[in-house]
This record gives sequence, C-alpha cells and structure tokens, in this order.
Amino acid sequence: MSTVITNIGELVTNDPAVGDGLGIVRDAALVMDGDTIAWTGPASEAPAADESFDAAGRAVLPGFVDSHAHLVFAGERAEEFAARMSGQKYAAGGIRTTVERTRAASDDDLRANLRRLITEMARQGTTTVECKSGYGLTVDQEERAVRIAAELADEVTYLGAHVVPTGWDAAAYAHLAATDMLAACAPHARWVDVFCEEGAFDADQTREILQAGVKVGLGPRLHANQLTQGPAVQLAVELDAASADHCTFLSESDIDALASSQTVATLLPGVEFSTRQPYPNARRLLEAGATVALATDCNPGSCYSSSMAFCIAVAVRDMRMTPAEAVWSATAGGARALRRTDVGHLGIGARADVHVLDAPSHIHLAYRPGVPQTAAVWKAGHRVR
Ligand code: NIG
Ligand code: FE
Repeated sequence: MSTVITNIGELVTNDPAVGDGLGIVRDAALVMDGDTIAWTGPASEAPAADESFDAAGRAVLPGFVDSHAHLVFAGERAEEFAARMSGQKYAAGGIRTTVERTRAASDDDLRANLRRLITEMARQGTTTVECKSGYGLTVDQEERAVRIAAELADEVTYLGAHVVPTGWDAAAYAHLAATDMLAACAPHARWVDVFCEEGAFDADQTREILQAGVKVGLGPRLHANQLTQGPAVQLAVELDAASADHCTFLSESDIDALASSQTVATLLPGVEFSTRQPYPNARRLLEAGATVALATDCNPGSCYSSSMAFCIAVAVRDMRMTPAEAVWSATAGGARALRRTDVGHLGIGARADVHVLDAPSHIHLAYRPGVPQTAAVWKAGHRVR
C-alpha cells in the first residue's frame, strides 16, 4: 500500500545535500510505499498513490528518535521529585526504590507499563525508541527486563550495571554483570550500558563490563559525566562507544575527545530540568564539531517525561541550540547515537517514520512549549496517530 502526503508547507528531510542543515523542501509532497519512503519532491510533481493525506500547509518531519530511555519499571517517584524541588539533591541511590517495585511486579504489569509509555511516545511523534534494563539487578530480573523490552522497543540496551544493589560489593557485582548476567541478557539486546559515576560504577568496573559486552557482540554506550566530571566520557571515546549520554559536567579535554571521535554526545535536558542541575554545554560541543543528539531519558527518577518536543524547547531556550540544531539532534542525531541509517531522515529508502506537525514550521516545537503539536504519525508506513 502506498500513501502520498500532499500540500506540505515545510518538509524536513535531514538530507545534507538539500539546502540548510535540515534539508528543508517547501511546498512539498512525500510518498510512502509499504514501510519505506519512496519519493519526496515538489508538491506539483507528486506521483499518485493508493491513499492520500492533505497536510494543509503544515510541517512534516522525520519521526523523533529517542535514543535513551528506561521504560521497564514499576511504580513512580513523585515524592522524590517533590523533595528535590524543595532542595534535595538527586543521587544514584534513588534507583533502588524503583528496583524494589520492579522486582515485585509481574511480567504482564511491566509489559503493560512499557506499552503505555511507547504509545505515549508515538502519539507525540517518536517512532524509534531505545529502552534499557537496569531496575532488576539480578541475573533473572535483568534477563526478564531485556526480554520484555525486546518485545516492544526498537533498540534494547542491557544496563545490569545501573547501580550497586543493596548488600553487594561494587567490584563483585560488576563482575557478575560482566559474566553470568551478561550471558543471560545478551541474546535479547544490541547494546551494553553502564552508569559510570560516583555512587555507581568506577572506570575499571565500567571497562570490564563494556569490554565483556563487546566480546559477545554488543555495542557499548555509557551514562557519562551526569553528576560529576569523572572518567566516563574519555572511556566512552576510548572504547568507541556509539554514545556518551548526559555529558553534563565536561572538561575541555572531554569536549576535544568527543569532537575527534565517532561517539555521539547525547544530551538529556529533561534530566537537568527535573533534577535542577546545570545544563550541558551544547554550544561548546557543537562549536568543537561533536555530533549532538537529544533524548528524553524517560524514567521514573531523574526525568519522567516522554516528550521530545519538551527536550527541544529546553535545548533551545536554556542550552542555546538553534531550533534547527535541536530538531536535527532529536531525529538524525538520535539515529547516529544508535548507529542507524534507516531512521532519523526522510531520504528515499528510509523507514517511513513520518511526523506531521500541527504547525507550519519546525520552529514551533520550541516556540510553543508545552502545546501538543502532533497532527499525524506513521511508523514504518503504519499510521500510529
Ligand atoms: O539516566 N543515571 C542513571 N540512570 C537514570 C536515572 C534512573 C533513576 O533515577 O531511576 C538516568 O538519569
Ligand atoms: Fe539514563
């Protein structure tokens, strides 16, 4: 089945060969054939298709690529958020509250919560979702989390080393995460991640787990420099991680290392917003030549928002990214962070992930913060909104 979207006021293709950074085509049309993009160009030249959708002059974007989320969990931590807003600091230990709730939940409850969040994301234009484990912290519980994530998420990350569970020595637990737990989880995952931070795992423990993951075919990625200016960004670059995520506290040499690597700096402005931390230095990263992605980090602790539009608005307002940079980072940047070439753009042959905004331009995502602006969404050619 083919569908033509006609009367597109502004088509964001992310094609570097077209115009500015977003590859914008005005007065455009787009054709999806099955699950792929078959044609884009001037509306006056659009070919016929089985079905037609009139965009009525609105903007059309690639679906958002949310490359960082923790969605297999039970319960919530609203009280912790409220305490934080009255001055308490965010600390890694809060994760353990969700671990208790998650361990006690049934498979069906975890699956239902995951489906609820992925649906919530799709309704806001997110068509690629990465999902991490990390609230189980035993071999069986982590295996269950990645198995359930693999049923519904596009990309699955094994994060057995999310925090040191109560009663464990950090090095002993890291070794378990690099051996038996990894063996149980690897068949369901593409990526391995570690929270490398004070209060979680140090550089040696992180290296042990990531190198073991690479040996069994997983790609490394890292929670890096979220709470302190630690060794994690350098380690991510050393191991050619697809992405170093958070990057809140960066030294000049961290910025240089990212800029001269293939490792994407994934910024998560919803976390800084919800934990009242300073924002990462997006401008320095961009000026140095690093590739920047934006993602939600949706999780019940540090940021319980699934809204990529919100991340874009904060990145523009408070991190001084331009609207075009922020939209690129939330689409093409997220795809780079997942080393995917089929999503995050609307070139011919890309997956038909299409986001029709209820607005005439991508700028409205930052210009009208908090306002729902998703008119229609296709994922792999299927209408999901
Ligand atoms: O990315 N930093 C570690 N993990 C999550 C938070 C998880 C939680 O607080 O439950 C994060 O911020
Ligand atoms: Fe995270």
